[in-house]
Amino acid sequence: MKLPISPQEARQLAISFLAQQGLNREFVENASLKPDDAEILVQFCPHERPEKILEVGTFVGVSSVVLGLCFPDSEMICVDPGLPTGLMNGLCVRKFEIPDYQQTMLSFVEAALTHVGVRHRFKIYQGFFSCCFPDAGDRQKVADYGVNLNDYALIGPEVCQTHGPFNAIFLDADHHTEAVLSDLLLLSSYIAPDGVIILHDMGEDFWGQQVREGVHQFLRVHPEFSLEQQGDLGKLHIK
Ligand SMILES: C[S@@+](CC[C@H](N)C(=O)[O-])C[C@H]1O[C@@H](n2cnc3c(N)ncnc32)[C@H](O)[C@@H]1O
Repeated sequence: MKLPISPQEARQLAISFLAQQGLNREFVENASLKPDDAEILVQFCPHERPEKILEVGTFVGVSSVVLGLCFPDSEMICVDPGLPTGLMNGLCVRKFEIPDYQQTMLSFVEAALTHVGVRHRFKIYQGFFSCCFPDAGDRQKVADYGVNLNDYALIGPEVCQTHGPFNAIFLDADHHTEAVLSDLLLLSSYIAPDGVIILHDMGEDFWGQQVREGVHQFLRVHPEFSLEQQGDLGKLHIK
């Protein structure tokens, strides 16, 4: 399939725009798709123009822009809690000396999608997908930051009911094993025939181990799926 833009160019467009909006470039790059990841993500999507794509975990919109620009005919549905952007710095393993960005992550997603001209094809939902910070340490960091998690809803089941089934799903949200398992169990009922679930951060580092363990626990319950891995990305599809 001939793409309208290369995934790496689309990623670069998003990152440059976000840097112009005042976000630290390294901070954005650290928690978003790397150049090779962007290529593999697009390669893993069904090439017969996926009609509907669900993205779970947008951060500030780099992967949303890549998918939105590379698949110009697809309807896009995104889910993210939309927490204050500065909070992400506290939750990540690597910390940056950056201002405490108060704008929500979803406000940057909206701005980036508008900037590249694809906002009209996106439905953006604010909330947690299938679970809300299963890790007690994360919950404490969020509370210390001043965020009350009771203000946020679990919206995955309703979003899936309303918009599923999906031809491609990009799961890049909470990387703890139990969250990955919980998200996959929900998503498994909403994949179109020949659809795929693509996971980020399947490498050898701490988060990679957490995500891969979640995927393996899922495969024990759903042996009808098979897993293909390339670089830091994994693809699940029905055998
Ligand atoms: C690694 S970042 C996503 C990066 C993004 N996909 C990219 O490549 O540009 C993870 C995102 O998942 C979100 N998140 C965390 N827990 C979540 C949950 N339970 N449901 C949905 N999103 C969640 C975080 O707010 C954060 O924005």
